[in-house]
Amino acid sequence: MENAVKEQESTNLFVEMEDAFSQLEHKPLRDVLLDSVRAEERAVQAINASFRRFTEKQYSVDALRTFFASWQRTNNSAMSVQGLANRITAEAEAALGRGAQGQALDLSRAAGRLHRVTDEDLGVKGQHVHFELYYRMASGFCGGDDAWQSRAYCLPSAVKFKAWLEAVRLREPIMVGLFSMLVHEGYTHAELEVIAPWFERWASGPMSMSHKDARRLLAWIHVHNGGTEKAHFAHSCAALDHYCSAVAPKVDLDHAGEVFRTYLRLKSAAMQQIADHLF
Ligand SMILES: [Fe+2]
Ligand SMILES: [Fe+2]
Repeated sequence: MENAVKEQESTNLFVEMEDAFSQLEHKPLRDVLLDSVRAEERAVQAINASFRRFTEKQYSVDALRTFFASWQRTNNSAMSVQGLANRITAEAEAALGRGAQGQALDLSRAAGRLHRVTDEDLGVKGQHVHFELYYRMASGFCGGDDAWQSRAYCLPSAVKFKAWLEAVRLREPIMVGLFSMLVHEGYTHAELEVIAPWFERWASGPMSMSHKDARRLLAWIHVHNGGTEKAHFAHSCAALDHYCSAVAPKVDLDHAGEVFRTYLRLKSAAMQQIADHLF
């Protein structure tokens, strides 16, 4: 019975990813996304299990610091989204210099959609900057201080995940960076929808917090729920669409699939290393 419940829960990660990915109108790429998730089923199940187990009990402050320092490396990527947008606006300016105004407009619109992906993270409408909400959550659960920010607490596989994501967005061809946007925003939607009730139960159960304190500390999770990340996925699709209109690149489906699967495998490796460290 317990196994059936856990299987059902990992199914939810797949269902939520499919829900986000179904917004992509480019059918061949959408099929590759969905096939990649199915191909990495074991990696996705391992991610699910690591969050599930984490939210079942209490830990030492040091273990909590390791969790929050490492997890942050896998979800905090606004800077590399902006870096990718900067690369596209540089191409737009070059196109303007050549007198290719139509191309410059498409490139600018692609970069604009990437800006929309980071609006909430950066607090551009006056809302809390997401880093501050993560800081409040991690510090609150780690005994009230911010020692969790030390790089010494960050596990190597989480560092590797972030380094890979930044390389894909900042050093590989722009199209490859856009592939990473698709898988990241769709996956993030699924992760945060699935773990939200688990973290609420963890905070008010094993961590003995009042409902009010739990809600306050978990605001970082809640601001990403209710369609925020699905909208980011839609903006990422539009960015890719405008970029394709501008430069008509060949959409290399094999390369896209490799990026999607590598993302899920590296994320899974990071979450499994956190689990190995904690349990
Ligand atoms: Fe965010
Ligand atoms: Fe996002």
